[in-house]
Amino acid sequence: MANSTLTAKEDAKQRGSVTGNTLTVTDNRTGKVYTVPIEDGAVKAMDFRQMRTDEEDFGLLLYDPAFTNTASCRSSITYIDGERGILEHRGYPIEALAEHCSFLEVAYLIFFGELPTEEQMKQWVYDIAHHTMLHESSRKFMEGFRYDAHPMSMLVSTVAALSTVYPRARSVQDPANRLYQIKRLVGKMPTIAAMSYRHSLGFPVVYPDIQLSYTENFMNMLWRTYEPKYAANPVLAHALDVLFILHADHEQNCSTNAMRSVCSSLADPYLGVASAASALSGHLHGGANEDVIKMLSEIGSKSAVPGVIESVKAGKYKLMGFGHRVYKSYDPRANLIKKIADQVFEVTGHNQMLEIALELERIALQDEYFIKRKLYPNVDFYSGLIYQAIGFKPEMFTVLFAIPRTVGWLAQWNEMMGDPDQKIVRPRQIYTGERVRRVLPIAERTQVDAAKA
Ligand code: CMC
Repeated sequence: MANSTLTAKEDAKQRGSVTGNTLTVTDNRTGKVYTVPIEDGAVKAMDFRQMRTDEEDFGLLLYDPAFTNTASCRSSITYIDGERGILEHRGYPIEALAEHCSFLEVAYLIFFGELPTEEQMKQWVYDIAHHTMLHESSRKFMEGFRYDAHPMSMLVSTVAALSTVYPRARSVQDPANRLYQIKRLVGKMPTIAAMSYRHSLGFPVVYPDIQLSYTENFMNMLWRTYEPKYAANPVLAHALDVLFILHADHEQNCSTNAMRSVCSSLADPYLGVASAASALSGHLHGGANEDVIKMLSEIGSKSAVPGVIESVKAGKYKLMGFGHRVYKSYDPRANLIKKIADQVFEVTGHNQMLEIALELERIALQDEYFIKRKLYPNVDFYSGLIYQAIGFKPEMFTVLFAIPRTVGWLAQWNEMMGDPDQKIVRPRQIYTGERVRRVLPIAERTQVDAAKA
């Protein structure tokens, strides 16, 4: 912990001598040599500010536009080793969690750091189930969406609108209040998701059935029609539950970074989750699962795959569901999803597009372009095929990602709120524009094409 009575320079020196790990930098502009401490394999960006050409100089900045090599926080929730394809939550490998736990058990683990006892689990399930109802004003709000609104846009907007229903959520510095809002949102996400789905079909809303499990109740709200009690297919309910586990958290990805960034200003969690879900909706993040299905149907047949690979290599096409910023050997979630796919297809029948997907993977993994760039199928490559087989339309796929990822967003937010190192997020820039221009009277200005500026 930094000592406030020390200057930044003295503090840096002291930290380095304590750990014995330092980095020595020579600033060739001035010939000055600086020693900065290395802690946990990282240097502090602020230790570089002291490197200046003269008193007027602001000091050295670190330029990292997409945070490709910047740690924005310390976190004890999720560990990823991208080179070895390892994913762990609170120290438990994702494979073990997917095999032995339910989604709500994993959610408990992610929030509280330990797996629940039987009694804790009972209370947790009760608490979440009793937050599944939506205020009628929120349901009516959803009725206002156009019949063809994208379910992800409906989800984002409705979650943001919950901020109007629960103004107490603004007390974000009260840990008990935070936990209350967390339970509330984890409970309500499937309800909002299901309502957006039913709205897009013009079907009446199905209210939650709290006797069912989290996933079964979600299926009930999606698909119940005339039957008095919905009974989910156990294989499909289990597959969906495992898929939820695989999507629960993934450390500092784009949407989690959005959550942390937005809530660093002390915005309430509904607005934070709406922002995070907005980030998730993009094609390069959670939106990719919808794109994969579109891509596979456009490809149309196994025989077209080699031509597609050539287009990708020529830079004309991006293979959706391939590549990852962090995973450079394989995405362990994609491996697990392939196994679930087999179980699901036994119930639903074969998905025609699986063969195209397998052929794409087979050819890509032998090709120098993909090998050199370490491009492997990611979680989105096979998940859509399962969702489609279960009965979801592609527009719902990213919503299915958002439901479980809400756990990760909220856990990361809660962790951030208790972290004394964190402040309002406010990056720096390297200014490249004009300086100190004179405003000409309008008659004296020459026309420039502003669109090309
Ligand atoms: N198809 C073809 N080439 C690719 C792909 C792809 N899917 N992904 C990366 N590359 C190439 C890229 O063109 C670049 O080549 P070069 O070095 O010749 O310029 C090289 O690989 C490195 O790529 P990058 O864009 O620097 O990698 P990144 O870390 O910035 O991007 C990514 C990661 C996931 C955004 C990217 O791989 C991608 O756009 N994939 C497709 C979209 C997708 O599947 N997204 C889901 C991500 S996993 C689930 C989630 O967390 O949301």
